Amino acid sequence: MYNLLKGKRGIIFGALDENSIAWKTAERVHAEGGTFVLTNAPIAMRMGQIKKLAEKTGSEIIPADATNMDDLQNLVAKAMEILGGKLDFVLHSIGMSVNVRKNIPYTESNYDFTEKGWDVSALSFHKVCQVLYKNDAMNEWGSIVALTYMAAQRTFPDYNDMADNKAYLESIARSFGYFFGKEKKVRVNTISQSPTPTTAGQGVKGFDGFISYAEKMSPLGNATAQDCADYTVSLFSDLTRKVTMQNLFHDGGFSNTGVSQEVIERFS
Ligand code: NAI
Repeated sequence: MYNLLKGKRGIIFGALDENSIAWKTAERVHAEGGTFVLTNAPIAMRMGQIKKLAEKTGSEIIPADATNMDDLQNLVAKAMEILGGKLDFVLHSIGMSVNVRKNIPYTESNYDFTEKGWDVSALSFHKVCQVLYKNDAMNEWGSIVALTYMAAQRTFPDYNDMADNKAYLESIARSFGYFFGKEKKVRVNTISQSPTPTTAGQGVKGFDGFISYAEKMSPLGNATAQDCADYTVSLFSDLTRKVTMQNLFHDGGFSNTGVSQEVIERFS
């Protein structure tokens, strides 16, 4: 380890179990000397094993529904109190679609479900940013990261309305990134991650075939949750201070590959 985050403080959203990208990130941030508060939706917390992670990383847990402004306000205020000052990094690692959960095809979306999924997966990022911004909770040269998927740019039919949610999420990173950069010298980015076997990932129909396909299409192979944790640490560190308002592909080269030899061979 390199002590890249020594003395830095933050909030990590979305560690549900040890497969979660946020879980791996919390472990990696801890190893790099960062301190943080863990948070998740109260309902997920009862099921999850987040306490184990908190013990391992010497962190406190503050429940917050990321769609609820009062919860977020309480979270940010308490996090600064517990950690002893303003924040340097925030990870938004949250996603959920009710239409996907209920196996409703994209062409038959139930719009109450669409709105709920959009609020949780996309608008919550704006809410998190707004609470941080208005409370002046970020230190200069701090870093805010959210996780996304390439279905925001290209169609993957079974990704359903999450594709639209991710497009919206990525746009928020650009829009809020402008104001955060100008006013607070804080960077805001999204990482567009390979398919990863987590609870959220495996909820997508046909995930097993899909992750194998992505593996064969990516010159470096799929990026794992652990790889994503490493990349996120680099974005939280002082080594990437001028990277902002970007959607950063972290996918072993998948997004720029038209076809791979392995895939051609399967069709020859
Ligand atoms: P995960 O299921 O471990 O994490 C999703 C988290 O969102 C859970 O901890 C869940 O409790 C939390 N969440 C749901 N509703 C919430 C709410 N109202 N308030 C606060 N938290 C809430 O799955 P994973 O894969 O680690 O997901 C993290 C992020 O990575 C998501 O944004 C996901 O879309 C993204 N991503 C995942 C990929 C994959 O293939 N697994 C690929 C690309 C991006």
